[in-house]
Amino acid sequence: MNPLNHVAIIMDGNGRWGLENKSSRNAGHKAGLKAVEKIIKASIKQKIKHLTLYAFSTENWKRPKSEIKYLFNLLENFLLNKIDDLHKQNIKLKIIGLKNFSPKLNKLLRQSEHKTKKNTKLQINLALNYGSKFELINAFKKLKKSKKIINEKNLINFLQTKDIPDPELLIRTGNTKRLSNFLLWQVAYSEIFFEKKLWPDFTGKDYNKIIKTFKNIKRNYGNI
Ligand code: FPP
Repeated sequence: MNPLNHVAIIMDGNGRWGLENKSSRNAGHKAGLKAVEKIIKASIKQKIKHLTLYAFSTENWKRPKSEIKYLFNLLENFLLNKIDDLHKQNIKLKIIGLKNFSPKLNKLLRQSEHKTKKNTKLQINLALNYGSKFELINAFKKLKKSKKIINEKNLINFLQTKDIPDPELLIRTGNTKRLSNFLLWQVAYSEIFFEKKLWPDFTGKDYNKIIKTFKNIKRNYGNI
């Protein structure tokens, strides 16, 4: 049985779900948030230590302003309403990506991270305004400036995922098979599962099924 500490998820398909079911992309994001809550619960049951969720990429700024505004409102309300509950459940929240949103949201993100920083049950790494190429270029620049030798260990120290183990498992929902600039360095040896269902339709049962399959894979890391 493979150990499983870290699951990373590309939550794709909100927009399509919203258009198909409620004639609005934003309704898909709202439903997507419900799926997030279900997967947090299932992760705790599975004793997973890190759950990384791709909530907003550096490329998502190209979307209509109204959709971006809706997404950040959703996030803001989620934090305002749920951070105490997450804290009570011993969940730690960490943001990966650049926190350059409105002063109000930046403050709320910082407060939420600070409040939960000592929690140990599950760490939710929320990838917000995150792009892997940007992260890598930045890390190389910092490494060069530090004058340290260029090797894996030193580079990792300058990634935004410093102190987070690499995910053993990456799931992408929404019937699309690409990585979309997500954790390109960190998924070098991850098992990748592409799920046909759109994110709002993805359930704890679907998640558990993937985990069961993952646990039985023979992982060789280049060996035989
Ligand atoms: C991708 O689906 C999803 C996003 C860009 C946003 C993810 C946001 C959530 C799941 C809800 C909010 C989460 C938090 C933590 C507050 P898409 O819109 O690209 O779907 P499409 O491919 O069907 O257009």
